Amino acid sequence: MTTTITWLGLSLLAASCVAANDQYVMGVPTPTTEPDWFKTRPQSFQGYTATGAAPFLAQTNPAPFGDPATYTVNDPLETSQPIHGAKDRNIFHHMGNLSPYYPRADGFGVDEYARPKGSNITQMHLLHRHGSRYPSKEESDRLADWAKNFANAIAHGAVFNDELSFLHDWSYTLGVAILTTRGRQDLFDSGVLNFFNYGHLYTEGTKIVARTTTQDRMLKSAENFLSGFFHLDWDQHVNLLAMIEEKNYNTSLQSINACPNAMHMSFGDYVDVPLKKWKNHYLSHRTKHLNHLSHKYTWTINDSFNAQALCAYETVALGYSPFCALFAFSEWEGFSYAYDITFAGYSGFQCPIGRASGITWVEEFLARVENREFTTRGSSSAANLTLNTNPVTFPTNQSLYFDFAHDNILISVLTAFGFRQFADLPIPDFLTTTTTNPSPSPQNPQFQPPRNHSFQTSKLIPFGARLNIEIIQSPHKIHPNRTHTTNHPYLDNTPETKYIHFLVNQRTVPLHSSFPDDCLYRSDGWCELDAFLAVQRGSLEKAKWDYSCVGEWELGGFGDVGDGVPIDEWGNREGGRE
Ligand SMILES: *[C@@H]1O[C@H](CO)[C@@H](O)[C@H](O)[C@H]1NC(C)=O
Ligand SMILES: *[C@@H]1O[C@H](CO)[C@@H](O)[C@H](O)[C@H]1NC(C)=O
Ligand SMILES: *[C@@H]1O[C@H](CO)[C@@H](O)[C@H](O)[C@H]1NC(C)=O
Ligand SMILES: *[C@@H]1O[C@H](CO)[C@@H](O)[C@H](O)[C@H]1NC(C)=O
Ligand SMILES: *[C@@H]1O[C@H](CO)[C@@H](O)[C@H](O)[C@H]1NC(C)=O
Ligand SMILES: *[C@@H]1O[C@H](CO)[C@@H](O)[C@H](O)[C@H]1NC(C)=O
Ligand SMILES: *[C@@H]1O[C@H](CO)[C@@H](O)[C@H](O)[C@H]1NC(C)=O
Repeated sequence: MTTTITWLGLSLLAASCVAANDQYVMGVPTPTTEPDWFKTRPQSFQGYTATGAAPFLAQTNPAPFGDPATYTVNDPLETSQPIHGAKDRNIFHHMGNLSPYYPRADGFGVDEYARPKGSNITQMHLLHRHGSRYPSKEESDRLADWAKNFANAIAHGAVFNDELSFLHDWSYTLGVAILTTRGRQDLFDSGVLNFFNYGHLYTEGTKIVARTTTQDRMLKSAENFLSGFFHLDWDQHVNLLAMIEEKNYNTSLQSINACPNAMHMSFGDYVDVPLKKWKNHYLSHRTKHLNHLSHKYTWTINDSFNAQALCAYETVALGYSPFCALFAFSEWEGFSYAYDITFAGYSGFQCPIGRASGITWVEEFLARVENREFTTRGSSSAANLTLNTNPVTFPTNQSLYFDFAHDNILISVLTAFGFRQFADLPIPDFLTTTTTNPSPSPQNPQFQPPRNHSFQTSKLIPFGARLNIEIIQSPHKIHPNRTHTTNHPYLDNTPETKYIHFLVNQRTVPLHSSFPDDCLYRSDGWCELDAFLAVQRGSLEKAKWDYSCVGEWELGGFGDVGDGVPIDEWGNREGGRE
């Protein structure tokens, strides 16, 4: 397997070269006319896609699962199947980046606070993940092959009993890489929600630039969002820029495509080894059990993992999946943690190019907040300078910014901002050392899937995940320890002050947690904008884009890197395992 496939195979993109007869819409520049930057049809660079079978939930839905008293209607997904050990918890909140969108009740450590009367939200910057999708090309090849194996085995006399007996009637019907119907809904609903929250910030009669990439699900996520925010004639209000998503093209919205090391270095076992150990551990008990139910077929760890992935994918594509109830709640926590390992290692603080992958969007954000030109040098980010130095394609005077990107970019952006509150991935020793797996026992508390750690992909990057950044102008400083009942929120005799407020999936991310020296503790988790910007002026240098993307460095083992940059030439492992 080549590195390219490893990186790109991370369920992120399935871009393949467009067919020779496809029309290229971008850039037909003549010296005198501006290209039509905002033309998005016919599509180009949309990646490999395929549609799947139409759902038939009215016919396939087995609800009410025995007890009519607990019947819940599908909304639109059927997620009420009984799960062993779930109590009141929902397995669909524990599927890593394959979790359907939901705002988390537990938040990120601070309460939500209302804007104090007299202050105003003046800007909102949105970075949005696409909605629920079918498996990417690589995943879909794997899952389709897996399904073929079953069909073959059954044709040769394999028999699956009890809870696996449905396999005799099951077939694989998913498409590839495009949004599912639920995925369109994710973005439309978010457009509606964001209109309620921020509609006032749009000035009637203006046309704002929103950005996405050319990949089919990215373009359509943006369009569905904009239809929800405005209406079907959103293009009266928005110029939508679809940046080319393809290897060697620059864009902040899929920056690894412009990062040579991400594409050419051999990352090989870096994430695969700990991931495989984790799967062997958390799925061993279930795999033995399912193997007992399989005759003339050896049910393996991979079978168990694929079955979990199918639960997630079938649910968002077809509304219900018979694979979900095969697993107990803690095995869903184990599944989710497998994605935490994956994203920490490929995009976050445990990734040597984690900061580099997110820094371009951070630099764009700074130019927008400061309402100035984009000045970051070519060699220190993946920006498309043709677009970013043109005010037509990169205006910095808007009050609303809508950008659409992939899960990995959201994680890398948090990393490049330096949100070290998400650097804490707990890594049990047996994942990174040569010690053999401890004799797996679900009773051994030491090896339960970690819970309540802050780097949870299910919480940060479910389908339809979003980062909303508000800029708030206040007539005075706001009391740092305000409570929900404070009548007088302002500190007397203090000047007008701007604040920044970060929300991930509608919950506040407290800024003092990662930047305690500059963003002093605040009960509302906000930070004075000037203080936050002062911190961020150092982020570009910390990201070491040139070194990370073009330099020569040793990869080390998983866990050695802890600050989103390579171990440096002196072997220093900032934040990493000693
Ligand atoms: C920048 O974007 C423009 C417009 O999509 C495209 O024509 C050009 O090739 C891009 N440049 C790079 C280096 O990606
Ligand atoms: C299990 O899946 C992994 C990752 O897809 C693959 O590398 C490995 O070869 C598979 N193992 C078996 C026994 O099929
Ligand atoms: C594209 O990014 C590279 C860095 O990877 C930079 O050197 C180059 O100037 C950029 N080109 C454009 C047109 O933005
Ligand atoms: C931003 O500035 C440009 C050119 O100066 C102007 O055409 C556009 O209307 C402005 N946009 C907003 C949202 O004010
Ligand atoms: C995790 O958080 C939940 C909700 O905040 C809490 O009920 C639970 O006790 C915590 N679990 C652990 C192991 O800390
Ligand atoms: C907030 O907006 C109101 C209404 O436009 C305005 O009167 C007030 O001065 C603004 N406050 C600040 C702090 O900018
Ligand atoms: C706010 O609370 C923190 C911690 O509880 C305390 O250290 C600080 O002095 C308080 N600040 C003010 C202005 O009351």
